[in-house]
Amino acid sequence: MKKTKIWSEIENIQVINGDFLGVNISENSIDLIVTSPPYNVGIQYNSHDDTMSYDEYLKWSENWLRKALQLMKPDGRMCLNIPLDKNKGGQQSVYADITTIAKKIGWKYHSTIIWNEGNISRRTAWGSWLSASAPYVIAPVETIVILYKETWKKNKKGESDITKNEFLEWTNGLWTFSGESKKKIGHPAPFPLELPRRCIKLFSYVGDTILDPFLGSGTTAIAAYKLRRRSIGVDIDEKYFNLAIERISKECKILKGLLWK
Ligand SMILES: C[S@@+](CC[C@H](N)C(=O)[O-])C[C@H]1O[C@@H](n2cnc3c(N)ncnc32)[C@H](O)[C@@H]1O
Repeated sequence: MKKTKIWSEIENIQVINGDFLGVNISENSIDLIVTSPPYNVGIQYNSHDDTMSYDEYLKWSENWLRKALQLMKPDGRMCLNIPLDKNKGGQQSVYADITTIAKKIGWKYHSTIIWNEGNISRRTAWGSWLSASAPYVIAPVETIVILYKETWKKNKKGESDITKNEFLEWTNGLWTFSGESKKKIGHPAPFPLELPRRCIKLFSYVGDTILDPFLGSGTTAIAAYKLRRRSIGVDIDEKYFNLAIERISKECKILKGLLWK
């Protein structure tokens, strides 16, 4: 197995290059996971194979969800960004299947946020055009499943930094904001900063420890830094590990002293 590399040059941020299933992170240490795992839709990642059979993908999902659960504090939570359906290469109910697996292995279910990316231009497959023969229905949304380990209410008091308007808007579980440009970021599947920003402000206290087991280009770590939380991010791929370091270094330098309130 490849050796893991750790980058920790910026205070309160740790980036690990390694397979999440094999990395060494203390058990019972994480307050909140915000993550988007590979969707198994044939994306060309550098290291990860995104073309497993559906059964293999569910088994792999079970394995990482099991490991993630061990790392959580008893009141730890997870915001899991996954697709609603799989439309390419056979229709599958990805959201329903992964949520069922998470519950089976011990995660508790809280609720689901529907993220309306508003991306209808992606639409190319219609099945049978203007015919009832075999039309395709595709929802231009993704889900953010909210899960927790043992207790939903946090065990300790802490500092919340969410405003009244944000709280009113974000506790309505239909979120509308655009996706992120792959080209601009230089990663095949980044999520926009707005996604971890909302999850972190709504579900964690200032100073909490946020984990992203599939860090990609470093988005979760940047949002966590701006919001004065600690963060740990893991990516199996060296190229994305280096990209995350580059992005984090740049953003954190600019933002020193200008942290989000
Ligand atoms: C959907 S992307 C995450 C993108 C990220 N949210 C961002 O904003 O850039 C999934 C990432 O998981 C990584 N990955 C795949 N398998 C992994 C594993 N076993 N351990 C750690 N990272 C893995 C891939 O290299 C890829 O960068």
